[in-house]
Amino acid sequence: MKPLKLPLPGPKAKAIVERDHQAISPSYPRGYPFVMDHGKGTEVWDVDGNRFLDMAAGIAVVSTGHSNPKVVKAIQDQAEKFIHISSDFYHENWVKLGEKIDEISPFSEPAVSFMCNSGAESVESAIKLAKNYTGRSQFIGFLGGFHGRTMGALAFTASKAVYREGFFPLMSGVTHVPYPDPYRPILHCKPGVSYGQTVLNYIEDEIFHRIAPANDVAGIIVEPIQGEGGYIVPPDDFFPGLRKICDKYGILLIADEVQSGVGRTGKWWAIEHFGVEPDIITIAKGIASGVPLGIMAARKSITEWEKGTHGNTYGGNPLACAASLATLDLIENGYMENATKVGQYTMNWLNESKQSHPCIGEVRGKGLMIGIDYVVDPETHEPDKNMRDRIVELAFEHGLLLLGCGESTIRLAPPLSTSQAEMEESLMILDYVTDLALDGHV
Ligand SMILES: Cc1ncc(COP(=O)(O)O)c(C=O)c1O
Repeated sequence: MKPLKLPLPGPKAKAIVERDHQAISPSYPRGYPFVMDHGKGTEVWDVDGNRFLDMAAGIAVVSTGHSNPKVVKAIQDQAEKFIHISSDFYHENWVKLGEKIDEISPFSEPAVSFMCNSGAESVESAIKLAKNYTGRSQFIGFLGGFHGRTMGALAFTASKAVYREGFFPLMSGVTHVPYPDPYRPILHCKPGVSYGQTVLNYIEDEIFHRIAPANDVAGIIVEPIQGEGGYIVPPDDFFPGLRKICDKYGILLIADEVQSGVGRTGKWWAIEHFGVEPDIITIAKGIASGVPLGIMAARKSITEWEKGTHGNTYGGNPLACAASLATLDLIENGYMENATKVGQYTMNWLNESKQSHPCIGEVRGKGLMIGIDYVVDPETHEPDKNMRDRIVELAFEHGLLLLGCGESTIRLAPPLSTSQAEMEESLMILDYVTDLALDGHV
């Protein structure tokens, strides 16, 4: 069935966007004028009554679907009891959430959690813990990485220069190295050396040797699958090698699971796909289905920092904890498995679609964290940003919410509850608008 072209933006949406331009900071990187009215699962409706399928889930956040009844009930029940008490005191759901994180954490030793309000704040917490524990000042980050926009996290974020422009000096002590992207490698591989190993050699032989002495390095902050940078999956040998480097020099391995974590890739944590145990993980986005919550979880043996060293007002917010407990229960009891199943279905479909669409250079990802990379030429892998942008625009006009990432990639990061039928409908729209874009429609 041919997807309908919607009359967008409708009059109500248009009016709200105009008011927004007067009252809200223009710094937000808005894409297209979707003005939400309500949502249910993977479906959302705008203020003019248009229906869309949501493959973006509020930047990979609404993990259990929009307004999942169990999450809504948990928030309502908690709101009736109390909404806030502050991190000066205690409450049971906060402890329960810490216990749950311990149970599902990727550490073989117990986990201790620090709760905050966003991904960036969880990264800030990890930076501070790493400095506090090691007494060292230097860090390694990755080109293409995204870790947030606060001044510490921003020192690691290296996906687009616009995020940093005009904000220097950032936190000092961060050296960036290429992310192991085998599709568009930056470094030259010596004969017989894999690209994963090439990046590891670059860290150990060049960076430690010439710029940042290993004994001064507190931590390496890395996304197990790079998100904003383009949904890039590193080669299998990379993380085991990185763990070895960390062990050799007493460096903490900090896995930023803000986008890739909480079941999105079909495992609780994306780092688990590589058989490696980090020392710290940073969590946010999907952890509470959209109620703001960040968590920095670390191996217990490195979290002996003193009372008052780090804290906040909203840590352990009761609404966020209640939403998170309900979210984790839903993910554990079906949605994580669904992410693997529907993710596989999606990968198969897209790989098939790639055969008839040479503009698709690569399809990559795990579970429901899938990137479609558009290229000018499948041989050279030259990114086709215009094609990606045209497809995102046309998809919106035909009832499909998509988000870009990297130079020329579309990310599929729908709710983990998305059914195969909803995914099929989304992919049919995507194929349809890809053909339109190829025909030169905008
Ligand atoms: C991997 C990663 N880390 C950190 C962040 C920052 O999270 P927030 O926007 O909640 O501060 C993001 C946001 O996209 C992210 O993808």
